[in-house]
Order: sequence, then C-alpha cells, then structure tokens
Amino acid sequence: MRVIAIDGPAGSGKSTVGRMLADRLGLTYLDTGAMYRAVAFAAIRGGVDPVDAEPVAQLSRRIDLQMGNGSVVVDGVDASVEIRGPEVSRAVSVVAANPEVRAEMRARQRAWATERGGGVIEGRDIGSVVFPDAVLKVYLTADPEVRAQRRAKEMTDLEYDNVAADLARRDAADQGRTHSPLVEADDAVVLDTTGMEIDEVLDHLVGLVEERTAARRVDEG
Ligand code: DC
Repeated sequence: MRVIAIDGPAGSGKSTVGRMLADRLGLTYLDTGAMYRAVAFAAIRGGVDPVDAEPVAQLSRRIDLQMGNGSVVVDGVDASVEIRGPEVSRAVSVVAANPEVRAEMRARQRAWATERGGGVIEGRDIGSVVFPDAVLKVYLTADPEVRAQRRAKEMTDLEYDNVAADLARRDAADQGRTHSPLVEADDAVVLDTTGMEIDEVLDHLVGLVEERTAARRVDEG
C-alpha cells in the first residue's frame, strides 16, 4: 500500500497540493477534514447537538459517507457545498475533538486506503497517527497571514479579518486538543510554502515520492 500523508494547519495549501499531487502520481485523493465536516453536517441535520459526545459518536458510526473527488455525499444527500459553510465550520472543531468519532474516522480512512492500494491522504493526524507507515509524510506550513489570505481568496464572501480570526481559533483548537492534536510526525518532511509557487512544491514532492518508492523497493528486495 502506498500512502502519501499530507498534514498541516488550515490554509497551508494541503488541499491544492494534495489534489494536484494525486493527479501527477495517478493516485486517488482523500480529504479527511471533509469527513469530520460531514459528521458535523449530519449532526446538525439530524438535530443532534455537536457537543453531545455519545450521540455524535453513534451517528458517526451509522452514517453512509461517500467521499468523491471534491464531493461528499452523506446518507444520500450531497453535502459538498454545505460542509464548507459557516455553520459546519463552527461545529467541526468539537466534532473532531471527539475521541470516538476519531476512532471511527481512522477506521474508515484505513479501509478507504486498503481498498485502493493507497492514495494521497490529507488531514491533521494522517502521518502521525493514521498511517505511520506512509511512504512519504509531508507537513505543510505557511505564515499565518499568508494562510488567512489564501482562505479569504477561496471564499470570496469572507472578510480577511474574520478569516484570520477564525483560522487562529481553529489552529489553537486543533493543536491544543487531547486526542490526536496537530503535530508534525517525527519523520515528516516539513515544507514552508509561504514564498513558494505550487509547481515548485509539486516538483519537490514528486521527486521525494520517487526517491522513497525506489528505496522501499530495494528494502523489500
Ligand atoms: O481541513 P479542514 O479545515 O476541512 O478540517 C476540518 C476540521 O477537522 C478541522 O477542525 C481539523 C479537523 N481535522 C482533524 O482533526 N483531523 C483530520 N485528519 C482532518 C481534519
């Protein structure tokens, strides 16, 4: 199984880099943040308070989740747009901090990768917890102002100041939580994308994947 793990804070370029890297390598891409967002969406839609740990955990085990290329279908309902909205964005941190939800999502992520023989998988704990044997672990970062600018550009209706404040709040929640906080895996390649063009980042990562894959083949005889 060939997994490429991409972790890092919001706005570090994970999604753009992950999608394009998957394209270049002919692998499938999985956005695990969208899975936590889908659980938050299902809770809100089902009238379950996102802070009620046990009902949310049960719901996370029960729902049918179809992760497509840029689309997310929850129990047959296309949630691709709504999971990016403010309501889900506000609720998702507490859902992602729920240890039982995390256990369920980890199991689903591993099953997803096993079915496909690997893929480019993006999140916060992919290299550190979910796929410790990933061929390549990338930890993307960028200056907070640059990350907020990128996010604000993505969502045209949002003010820069609000985006920056929301990003700072989510960074703190993701890094400060007890279960699988955002950390760099010991063996992750840390890449600061602040001044980098996307093609530079991609060329660098494709080179690393090729190197690692060749080394692994030698190791495996
Ligand atoms: O990447 P994103 O903004 O769509 O992530 C949504 C939330 O889910 C965010 O609070 C971080 C969390 N998350 C996580 O805890 N673990 C992951 N593997 C992916 C996302």
